[in-house]
Amino acid sequence: MLELNQVVQEIESADTLDALEALRVRLLGKAGEITALLKTLGGMSPEQRQSEGPKIQALREGATAAIAARKAALEGAALEARLAGETIDLSLPAPATPRGSVHPISQVMDELAEVFADLGFAVATGPEIEDDWHNFTALNMPESHPARAMHDTFYFPDKDGQGRDMLLRTHTSPVQIRAMLDQGAPIRVIAPGRVYRSDSDATHTPMFHQIEGLVIDKGIHLGHLKWTLETFLKAYFERDDIVLRLRPSYFPFTEPSVEVDVGYAFEGGRRVVGGSGDAPGHAWMEVLGSGMVNRHVIAAAGLDPDEWQGFAFGTGVDRLAMLKYGMDDLRAFFDGDVRWLSHYGFSALDVPTLSGGVGTPA
Ligand code: PHE
Repeated sequence: MLELNQVVQEIESADTLDALEALRVRLLGKAGEITALLKTLGGMSPEQRQSEGPKIQALREGATAAIAARKAALEGAALEARLAGETIDLSLPAPATPRGSVHPISQVMDELAEVFADLGFAVATGPEIEDDWHNFTALNMPESHPARAMHDTFYFPDKDGQGRDMLLRTHTSPVQIRAMLDQGAPIRVIAPGRVYRSDSDATHTPMFHQIEGLVIDKGIHLGHLKWTLETFLKAYFERDDIVLRLRPSYFPFTEPSVEVDVGYAFEGGRRVVGGSGDAPGHAWMEVLGSGMVNRHVIAAAGLDPDEWQGFAFGTGVDRLAMLKYGMDDLRAFFDGDVRWLSHYGFSALDVPTLSGGVGTPA
């Protein structure tokens, strides 16, 4: 006859739920060993039944209870194991995520917009795919004008619907024309953006960035131009000792035309603006083209040049960025090298403001 102790021991050593179930069937199933013992009760004499009955019942109840207990234990262990496997250790540091940065050109354009907003300039834009009327003709460069050849222009093979040659704008000056045609006068705008010339070496890339300035009003003269440029350059470079030199020059769209130099010195192997270019250890560097807007340009933009006058200027954003933040190769600006970008880039939270300093490196 089966011994309860032995049966219980066997049940307790079942180490999987499947093994336990197999054991349950072997003992208590329809053809199980304990079930078979229960069936023998019917054929026993009353005395035998009296002595054997309680033992067989105890065996059945003991086995049933032991199986239930073992089942609960095995299920609990399985749940524990699953929970342990699915644990997330919240005390681990977050993995390093790649961090983007704001390109110095974007940052400098934002700085310039901030400086000029303070002087009452709005931002104007125009298309990078331009027609030759806006890029040249309206800017006092008729078809045969030699200055057109100086621009190394990228032309498109087809003309536009009005029979105009199409090109990639060679400067931001066409935005002067578009802004005057759109808004009339008085007007005070800057126009930052991409420009294109077929040119490539350490200081020239086929695509680069300019910012244009235009002021048209009544009684505007060169003094306003000089003050504006001086104020802008001091705010942008965040120093008061910026000294300008204005040199007579020539642009078809300004008359008179003025090229603007700033004084600088070499410090720690790089150019640092400040001081007169005539001071010992200093030199002049050209940073801007400018002048009083030519009356032909004002007329081409639909305004009466006897009533309205103004000045315009244009400068390279990339060059301004290099001068302020100390990069020495223009080509690196457009390589997309993450090492360069993380070194020279700015935090997205580094929004230029006049009060906070327009540009503090990240
Ligand atoms: N458009 C000129 C250039 O690209 C710069 C300029 C702009 C000069 C406005 C005078 C006035 O070189």
